[in-house]
Amino acid sequence: MENREQWGSRAGFVLAAIGSAIGLGNIWRFPAVAYSNGGGSFFIPYLIALLTAGIPLLILEFTIGQKYRGSAPLSLGRISKKGEWLGWWQVLVSFFISTYYPIIVAWALSYTIFSFKLSWGNDTGSFFAKDYAQFGLVAPGQMGGIVWQVFIPLVIVWAVVFIILFKGVRKGIEKANKFFIPMLVILFTIIVIRAVTLDGASAGLEAFFKPDWSKIMDGSVWVAAYSQIFFSLSIAFGIMIAYASYLPRKSDITNNAFITGLSNSGFELLAGIGVFAALGFMAQAEGVSVDKVAAGGPNLVFVVLPKIINTLPAFQGVFGVLFFLSIIFAGLTSLISIVEAYVSAVQDKFNISRKKAIGYGAGISAIISIVYATKGGLYFLDNVDHFVNSYGIALAGLIEVVLIAWVFKKLGDLQNHANSMSDMRLGLWWKICLSIITPIVLGYMMIDSIIHDFKEPYSGYTWGFLSIGIACAVIALVAGIYLAALKWKKNLSEETQKEVS
Ligand code: PHE
Repeated sequence: MENREQWGSRAGFVLAAIGSAIGLGNIWRFPAVAYSNGGGSFFIPYLIALLTAGIPLLILEFTIGQKYRGSAPLSLGRISKKGEWLGWWQVLVSFFISTYYPIIVAWALSYTIFSFKLSWGNDTGSFFAKDYAQFGLVAPGQMGGIVWQVFIPLVIVWAVVFIILFKGVRKGIEKANKFFIPMLVILFTIIVIRAVTLDGASAGLEAFFKPDWSKIMDGSVWVAAYSQIFFSLSIAFGIMIAYASYLPRKSDITNNAFITGLSNSGFELLAGIGVFAALGFMAQAEGVSVDKVAAGGPNLVFVVLPKIINTLPAFQGVFGVLFFLSIIFAGLTSLISIVEAYVSAVQDKFNISRKKAIGYGAGISAIISIVYATKGGLYFLDNVDHFVNSYGIALAGLIEVVLIAWVFKKLGDLQNHANSMSDMRLGLWWKICLSIITPIVLGYMMIDSIIHDFKEPYSGYTWGFLSIGIACAVIALVAGIYLAALKWKKNLSEETQKEVS
């Protein structure tokens, strides 16, 4: 008997996949990455990365989830017993990300409220570092006590995540995305329209789109393009496999992957335009050039943007609320997907109820997340994010394509399956992208990050402190191998016969 939950509609699945993809990566990462890697000319490596790795891998993960009907460990375990550990490793990477991602949503929640009175004042940098998150008060590696104004919104964020997940796939995740994603697009479009009509916007856009062709031959620009695509499409985290496992037996795969990939990139472009138009406005107001104000990451969202909001000619509070609500919607839908990746895995493997799986999985993550709500939280976040993310993505993605293409030799089967389901037919290009191009690029990315990290300690931190981030990355792998060695409560191989025949 099949009792796996299913999406209520095709749009529900696609919106959930888009909800996972569109997140902070689109808003605070893409504009800055594109700008510092050649501006207009970055679009070439970026588009090539999307077409040769992003969309092909998305198709692969959708196909695996839909065909084998399980979370990443179950689906990969059904492909081959030797694949399960990789699924666990990916969902454990998601687990670590889910410990710090909610902090950023929590900050945005506070900032939505601060927007009403522009409580961040004129010195937005010191407000964020000293008055609000208070990380400016301790050295990296120290915790220094809980910061209550971060802790309380954090509890609220987790409560929302728990409620949505408890309601299940169709009534929880699907419904939430059907509300949040259209809302996000509406709010964000209003913001972008306001941004591009500000004085100085055109200078910002010019800076953003001006191509620097000298960069195109630079390997690091290509690495930046591929890593942006991987992070932004939530690939190799076990997320898209889990989401696709809830697809009905007959459902389109390839078209859905194209819609997801292109919508995500469309939103990325929209964010780039909005962010740089606003930066152009600020540069003009301060009488400096755009490169002086260009920023990314938390600094962009929590320091520079509040400053821009202060400078708006009218409706400052309204735009503040719209902007931080956008961050909340974008972040929450990604967070839900990260948590679902491991909740579904725990549920599959140990055959426990969904509620229990959420209680244990998300419960432990919520407890760990308190570390990041301390005064030293931001340093821990930066450290863990660096190692879990750069090695998690590149290495887990690399092993995924190598195992499936070269070890299990499953690309042909998966291609046939996708073709039997989809309007659009996959040709040879898909196999070439996955078996040759993606492994080469990811292999290069891996070596590149290792060399960087050994040459100089990341961000100038001490090796002692960095060992925490490194430990998290290693734990994800080792614990993954351990979990794969445990016995299945349900018979994995029997299911295989039944499910995939
Ligand atoms: N894709 C999301 C973004 O662009 C982030 C994310 C990363 C979500 C990893 C899940 C896993 O922000």
